[in-house]
Amino acid sequence: MKVNRAVFVKSSPELALCPPPSKPEYAFIGRSNVGKSSLINMLVNQKGLAKTSGKPGKTQLINHFLVDDTWFLVDLPGYGYAKVSKSQRDTFQRMINGYLLKRENLICTFVLFDVRVPPQQIDMDFIGFLGEKGLPFYILLTKSDKISQTKLSESVAAYENKIAEAWAEMPPMFVTSSPEQIGKKEILNLIGEWNDSFNNEKK
Ligand code: GTP
Ligand code: MG
Repeated sequence: MKVNRAVFVKSSPELALCPPPSKPEYAFIGRSNVGKSSLINMLVNQKGLAKTSGKPGKTQLINHFLVDDTWFLVDLPGYGYAKVSKSQRDTFQRMINGYLLKRENLICTFVLFDVRVPPQQIDMDFIGFLGEKGLPFYILLTKSDKISQTKLSESVAAYENKIAEAWAEMPPMFVTSSPEQIGKKEILNLIGEWNDSFNNEKK
């Protein structure tokens, strides 16, 4: 699938204020600074669309982008960012959980892990939560351009081993790099297929 045009729709502090759930939607989530906003920009070929930053905690609301007038991409705030207050973290968590559990047009959530970082408990807990609630997700291992092929294979294996401790079946996983556009075709093809089934079901 090719993307022609993506526009920012709105930033919402809670589910009730999100755009009407009339189009298929895909969310991107992961710890702060993992590369969610950069990945969204890579997918839609627009560097400045989702705001990126070297400083963690940049994205603080539920941000909707409309792609080719037919589907939504959603940039979510990072979870577990230590430098915000506990009450702010709780507010984020309530917002994210409310959104993930109740957004009826949400087809799949892409959960991002930094491939250079060893598997973190907070990430394992988060996919555990999605699994428990029966919410479909894909894992994306980001920033693969920052390490060698050897280290990359080792890291993918470490993630697979860690995940296998809790999961009978391995959740689907892609390696990505935003500057090198790795993973783009695979992700857009999936979204294209899901969009087709969403529209067929509505007919
Ligand atoms: P928050 O909104 O703060 O939660 O962060 P985020 O997950 O949206 O991360 P963002 O896309 O802002 O990227 C954080 C930093 O990592 C920026 O400096 C990006 O340029 C850099 N970055 C993101 N993805 C990649 C990647 O695939 N490769 C490299 N080399 N750098 C990346
Ligand atoms: Mg961001």
